[in-house]
Amino acid sequence: MSVQKKERRLTPARISAMKGKQPIVCLTAYTTPVARILDEHCDLLLVGDSLGMVLYGMETTVGVTLDMMIAHGRAVMRGVSRSCVIVDLPFGTYQESKEQAFRSAVQILQQTGCDGVKLEGGEEMAETIAFLVQRGVPVCAHVGLMPQQVHTAGGYRSVGHSDSETAKIRRDTRAVGGAGAFAVVVEGTVEPLARELTDTLPVPTIGIGASPACDGQVLVSDDMLGLFNDFTPRFVKRYAEIGSLMAEAAKTYADEVRTRAFPSAEHTFRLRS
Ligand code: KIV
Repeated sequence: MSVQKKERRLTPARISAMKGKQPIVCLTAYTTPVARILDEHCDLLLVGDSLGMVLYGMETTVGVTLDMMIAHGRAVMRGVSRSCVIVDLPFGTYQESKEQAFRSAVQILQQTGCDGVKLEGGEEMAETIAFLVQRGVPVCAHVGLMPQQVHTAGGYRSVGHSDSETAKIRRDTRAVGGAGAFAVVVEGTVEPLARELTDTLPVPTIGIGASPACDGQVLVSDDMLGLFNDFTPRFVKRYAEIGSLMAEAAKTYADEVRTRAFPSAEHTFRLRS
């Protein structure tokens, strides 16, 4: 990566500075061609561990590995010239100790060239976030619904409906903000709480299923493009139906191969005269 290319790209510090000025646009990206398409429209591209589910057909994100995240992080970095790129630390690569988290984050930063990492967790991760930030690793935190905790949470459900849940998310957000996270993804919670967190946190909140009150929004690209059809969460707006377009294209191709309409003369090499 050239220095010139890096200078044109948004940095975590510039993402933080967008709070209160303009909404932050974030989508997930996992491959070079998709990153190329999304780059000019987004401020932040997230190489999310959601790739385990939407690309690899896993039931949860728990099976995603550091090697997978690094491979996809490298692919995305080849496609960007403007967006800030953040790569998820996958389950099991940072929860054991702050030293483990640092080693995993360094591998990601060094091997992908991305701008920072994201990790899930609140109060229990604050010490780790501070450790990483103090040693040069920009961290985006992730609170509220935390998909990597699906097994202890007993499923994917929105949070912040009871006083105790609300108090916990408040404490989590305050803790990760105080630890130096440059932004906080807030997933699956109710609007009044999202508004309160956004109003009180000095860094941006980036919401997913967390109302318009957040400083920015993120969606899983495959969800909003209609490419992942196993289920569509209530908070996802489908901006395109690319899965249906692909199915139509595959059907037309299959029909043309079977009727020998493809390849036609224009797709056929002739002997040079
Ligand atoms: O993995 C992911 O794509 C995420 C987003 C849903 C925020 O964490």
